[in-house]
Parts: sequence; C-alpha cells; structure tokens
Amino acid sequence: MYRIAPSILSANFAKLGEEITNVIDSGADIIHFDVMDNHYVPNLTIGPLICEAIRPLTNAVIDVHLMVEPVDRIIPDFAKAGANIISFHPEASNHIDRTVGLIKDQGCKAGMVFNPGTPLHYLDHVLDKLDLVLIMSVNPGFGGQKFIPEALTKLTAVRERISASGKDIMLEIDGGVKVDNIAEIARAGADTFVAGSAIYNASKDSDPHRYDTVVSALRAELAKV
Ligand code: DX5
Ligand code: ZN
Repeated sequence: MYRIAPSILSANFAKLGEEITNVIDSGADIIHFDVMDNHYVPNLTIGPLICEAIRPLTNAVIDVHLMVEPVDRIIPDFAKAGANIISFHPEASNHIDRTVGLIKDQGCKAGMVFNPGTPLHYLDHVLDKLDLVLIMSVNPGFGGQKFIPEALTKLTAVRERISASGKDIMLEIDGGVKVDNIAEIARAGADTFVAGSAIYNASKDSDPHRYDTVVSALRAELAKV
C-alpha cells in the first residue's frame, strides 16, 4: 500500500532514460516528474517533450508535479505526453475547480499540491474530485532541501479529511524524505513518498547506477510502521 516515487530532478539528466529504467528495476513504483518554470518557482526544469520521450521506457505511473503559472494551458500537453497523474498548486490557478476538471477531462488523475505555507481550505469544495493530495515538506523549487516537520501535522489533518470523505485519494509527501524519517512520515498519514536526492544521490559512483539498496532501506523502514 506504500508507494515510492523517485523524483528524477536529482537524476543524471545526461543518462535520463537509464536513470528511469534503473530506478524502477530497483523496486521503485512511480516516476515523479518535477516541472519548474522560472516564474512560479525560481528554477527551470523539464517539459512535455521529455515526458513523451521517457513514456515508452516504463509502464510505471508518471506523476507530473506542475510548478508552473499559469497552469491550465500546459495540462493537455502533458496528458498527450503520457502523464498518468497531474498535480498543480492552487495559487497557480485562477479557477481551481476548472483546473481539476481539465486534468480529468484529459483522462489523467488530478492532484492538488500544498506548499508549507498554503492553508488546507483549498480542499473544502474539491476534495471529492481529487485523486491525490500532495503535501510539500520543503518550499518548491529545488531538490536536496531539509524536511520541514510541520508537514507532519498537515499530513495527519489531510489523512483525517480523506478518511471522512470515504474516497480513495492518495496522500503524497514531497521534500526531504530520507531513510531516517520515512517511517515517521508514514505514521503521520502519507502513503506515497517522493524521494529525489535520497535515492539518486545514493549511487552516484556505481555504473550502471542501481538503487536497490536505498529503495530496500526505504521499504524496510516502511515495514516497521
Ligand atoms: C521540489 C520538488 C521535489 C524534489 C524533492 O520542488 O518538488 O520533488 O525533487 O527532492 P528531495 O527528495 O531531494 O527533497
Ligand atoms: Zn515534486
């Protein structure tokens, strides 16, 4: 029931295809795909062309995290590029119900993302329509930042709201997830764990890069919960 979602933000982009197949072969479940626009966040990463290029390499779910503003125009491009889940930040949308509808109309699962300072009231009228809630445990824009512990109380609050809704909604955490804190994060209510630097920096020296050791260590921690 727990899913591990490596963020390819910390992968070696010169070998991105191998980095994706290797991490899935190493036991990870989902590819987390961070899209940054140098506007909503102060960094610039990858777009639909890269999503389309990696789509044939794996059957794993591609979980697109849009850190872009405005958000609506780019959604159909990611759906066509093979994204399975598309998540957006409510501050980056003028009409959040419309954005959720647009994602679902394109045949994708819809997620809403909460920055450390974003209140949960954005869930009030749309929770039932969501497939995923993503809690940020760092401010978005960069990999390798430190986990912000207040995210744990937020996870627990969202877990309660999901249980009350009776819906099957994934609860994902993103930022600073490591072997030494993943169990505590799971206890707070998360079921899906993005990990960028913890996974991709674990194996920089071996070639080909395999991630079995770190993925197993994350799963071993989850087994203790
Ligand atoms: C940050 C991104 C994260 C990031 C996580 O804006 O959304 O997905 O890659 O990286 P780590 O796991 O290194 O904090
Ligand atoms: Zn992310």
